[in-house]
Amino acid sequence: METDFLVIGSGIAGLTFAMDASAHSRVTVITKKDTPETNTNYAQGGIAAALSPTDSVELHIKDTLEVGDGLCNSESVNLIATQAPSVIMELSALGVDFYKTPDNKIDLGREGGHSQNRIVHTKDATGKTIENVLIKTVKERGVSLFEHCLVLDLILEDNKCIGVWVLKEGEVLPFFASSVIIATGGIGNIYLHTTNSPIASGDGISMAYRAGAVIGNMEFIQFHPTAFYGKKIDGRAFLLSEAIRGEGGILKTQNGCKFMDKYDSRGDLAPRDIVARAIHSELKKRQEPYVLLDITHLSESKIKDRFPTIYKTCCGLGINPANNPIPVVPAAHYVCGGIVVDMESRTNIPNLLAIGESAHTGVHGANRLASNSLLESIVFAHRAARKIKNQKSKIKNSSFKIPVSFPDKEGDTDIIRDYLFKIKKIMWEKVGIIRNDKELAEAQTEIGQYKLEIEKLYPLYRQTVELVELRNIVTTASLVIECALRRKESRGLHYNINYSSRNDLEYKKDTIIAGQSYR
Ligand code: FAD
Ligand code: SIN
Repeated sequence: METDFLVIGSGIAGLTFAMDASAHSRVTVITKKDTPETNTNYAQGGIAAALSPTDSVELHIKDTLEVGDGLCNSESVNLIATQAPSVIMELSALGVDFYKTPDNKIDLGREGGHSQNRIVHTKDATGKTIENVLIKTVKERGVSLFEHCLVLDLILEDNKCIGVWVLKEGEVLPFFASSVIIATGGIGNIYLHTTNSPIASGDGISMAYRAGAVIGNMEFIQFHPTAFYGKKIDGRAFLLSEAIRGEGGILKTQNGCKFMDKYDSRGDLAPRDIVARAIHSELKKRQEPYVLLDITHLSESKIKDRFPTIYKTCCGLGINPANNPIPVVPAAHYVCGGIVVDMESRTNIPNLLAIGESAHTGVHGANRLASNSLLESIVFAHRAARKIKNQKSKIKNSSFKIPVSFPDKEGDTDIIRDYLFKIKKIMWEKVGIIRNDKELAEAQTEIGQYKLEIEKLYPLYRQTVELVELRNIVTTASLVIECALRRKESRGLHYNINYSSRNDLEYKKDTIIAGQSYR
């Protein structure tokens, strides 16, 4: 099989690239589950864009840089903030029906760290609306979509990417392309509790690393402060959008006391790292398993109208948010680092690009400003598609030799599940919201040992989704730990009690890890 541009992933980044590139080239999108099963599909709050008369691109930039805590790449930040208004117009033109005020203006919600109302949304299902419109558009534009196909690894020849290995209906097949675009999203599933879809297992970052791509800033893991405590949905901790606090939701301890004002003058709308740490500290101090997100002062009709998905889901989970405060805890949500790319989304490996959450563009620095991720994904996917237009290299498959055979023996699923649980637990307990050197070092030893064992057993068994994801999860986890150990300071999302403040003199720089094959 061959194509001009092979995109791995059917979220906002992959589909935006595919939509653009299909105008000039043959594009194939490969995705490991049903096409809509992406983190994009679960995005609630919306997309940040300076549209209000009191707002400006400069303020959007300022807020992004402040929340990024000194590590953002200002060129990337300027780019996304400047393009945000036109991204909204473009999505509207494609058919995304953003929520409007009664006087027919785009409604602007508020989220943590934003100094203005700036979040464009379709109530609480912004990601799903965008995903559906993009799927429809790429289908209309003739993009080939391969569902339930898992990309295992990149194929390199003379240090250039020439294609990928794909697991399709139990068979491993090579797929060749002029360029490969990694759009595989996040890594939430390296942790025990995450808001992410089960697809988010760091596959793209991990396969790029194995192929020699440079990886950066993996220590900056964003924990969303408010995920539903207790019951999960298909393994996912259900998110309670920050937009709820933007509409007046208040965080309280179980005895009904507000606490965020003690931690930050912005109270419940402080940036996520501050709110997540505050909740963590209250839970520890009070020895309680959850805090409360209270919106009982809003009318039931207002809650139902503004947050229909959240209202319905919470009721299904046993809490009517109009009558009872919602029990919430922080959960792993977003990785600010990833595969290091330039302003055109190119990695250090020729013919390999990365976009979306799996890429490190420098937009988010040490902490992502809420609702900047969908925006970044679109802006950088557009740039990648534009730049690549005239760079189609010849597809190289003629000299390629398919390895003799792949093992046929089935791996033991109980062993895989056991490894997974142990890895996620270590990450949750030792590489979480609050870190320290001792536990990070322990995590490095323990995860390092599991990584060795998993790398040994991997080639012995038939590739299955579970085995492949396990290998990627342990690799990604080890990258997070390595970056976290290198940063001997506290900044943004990386909080290490052994170094309680920011150290600009030594650490105002990205944490960079060279790809495996260059070691
Ligand atoms: P995704 O949308 O996650 O897509 C990844 C794709 O890659 C999937 O199709 C997956 O199947 C595929 N894939 C992965 N590995 C493989 C493989 N090995 N082989 C084949 N296919 C593979 N951001 C905002 O800006 N605003 C929000 O309101 C917002 N809300 C959020 C709410 C939730 C619950 C979550 C989890 C995140 C939210 N985010 C939000 C973050 C944002 O949704 C994501 O960062 C963004 O959607 C990532 O898009 P993506 O295209 O990079 O990846
Ligand atoms: C949310 O709706 O709270 C999530 C927004 C984001 O992750 O940007």
